[in-house]
Amino acid sequence: MADLLVYGSYGYTGSLVVDEAVERGLDVLLAGRDRNAVENQAIRQNCDERVFSLDERRLVDLALEEVEAVVHCAGPFEETADPMVEGCLRTGTHYLDITGEIPVFERLATRDGEAENAGITVLPGAGFDVVPTDCLAAHLADRLPDADRLSLGFQASGGMSRGTARTTVRNLGDGGAVRRDGRIESVPTAWRTRRIDFGNGERSAMTIPWGDVATAYHTTGIGSVEVYAAAPGWAVTAARFGRYLGPLARSSVLKSLLESLVDARVEGPTEAERRESRNYVWGEVESGAGERAVSRLVTPEAYRLTRRTAVEIAERVADGDAPEGFQTPAGAFGPDLILDVEGVERTDDPTEAVDTDETAGGTEP
Ligand SMILES: NC(=O)c1ccc[n+]([C@@H]2O[C@H](COP(=O)([O-])OP(=O)(O)OC[C@H]3O[C@@H](n4cnc5c(N)ncnc54)[C@H](OP(=O)(O)O)[C@@H]3O)[C@@H](O)[C@H]2O)c1
Repeated sequence: MADLLVYGSYGYTGSLVVDEAVERGLDVLLAGRDRNAVENQAIRQNCDERVFSLDERRLVDLALEEVEAVVHCAGPFEETADPMVEGCLRTGTHYLDITGEIPVFERLATRDGEAENAGITVLPGAGFDVVPTDCLAAHLADRLPDADRLSLGFQASGGMSRGTARTTVRNLGDGGAVRRDGRIESVPTAWRTRRIDFGNGERSAMTIPWGDVATAYHTTGIGSVEVYAAAPGWAVTAARFGRYLGPLARSSVLKSLLESLVDARVEGPTEAERRESRNYVWGEVESGAGERAVSRLVTPEAYRLTRRTAVEIAERVADGDAPEGFQTPAGAFGPDLILDVEGVERTDDPTEAVDTDETAGGTEP
């Protein structure tokens, strides 16, 4: 039996994941729906390949029966996660993906019992979204065990791949999301802003519907979660202006147009950009008793990090080292999982007392 099947193996991120798995000496099956692309990649990588679409149930099962775990890299996962998870449940194959989509996390969380019955681990979010932030959330929850409020954020550089840009276009007009009192709530785009020192000086940042709004609750049990991305003032203004274009932004005609532009123009970060860029990740917890703790990570560029975290986690899951059922990265492997990735550093500010009347969260306009 092979260790891993990488589905969407010839996409931008899938190719990076395959490179990493092959470099680590894992036995990898390459898979996707484009025969030429999969076969050419299989020759280059000296791996076996399987060609199937996700609606070819029999072929999905035959391929999954050959491996311990699948690393699903073919997004948008709103469209692709379910048929692959169904296949994994039928065949007893561990499931991992690199989604950052909140509805996908929440849907897969509801399949916890089925996954346990099938004896498999279902672990979405094994990339930049959400491994570093999830590990930071777990670390902060350890530092302040009675925390009831969590804010996470990041300052990323290096650019977007085509698939990430397509997923972003697909979600245009959907607004933002935060978690309050344990429930995910829709909020306007760029709902709150605040100044954050991500680790290299204070910057403006706005709330975004990042995957941790779903996952951090499963990892830490903290019921209030906001996620911020660094954004210059003009980007916050543009995002807020975009709220008024909601119906237009949701229009399928506009989305098709933008997807064509993405396909024509977006190539993803170059090898040099992936090697040289760094990302800054920040997290803050507060307790009702008036304590606050802040921790930070410096990480490699997002796609470089994704190739490493996805394969590191997949290797552990394939070895049977993860609990069965629905899992988050830090829920399965603890807050220090991220420190096993080369190039990651974590720092802690001392825990401080805060004025309970003061809210450290961002402000609404
Ligand atoms: N969480 C994270 O940190 C993180 C990091 C990187 C990427 N991502 C996500 O991963 C996804 C892929 O990104 P990417 O940059 O690698 O994109 P990409 O270069 O466009 O590759 C996408 C891959 O998915 C396949 N695919 C798409 N829809 C499919 C479907 N319905 N059935 C079968 N295969 C399908 C594509 O095959 P075809 O060419 O045949 O369509 C291609 O192999 C995106 O959703 C992105 O947001 C997340």
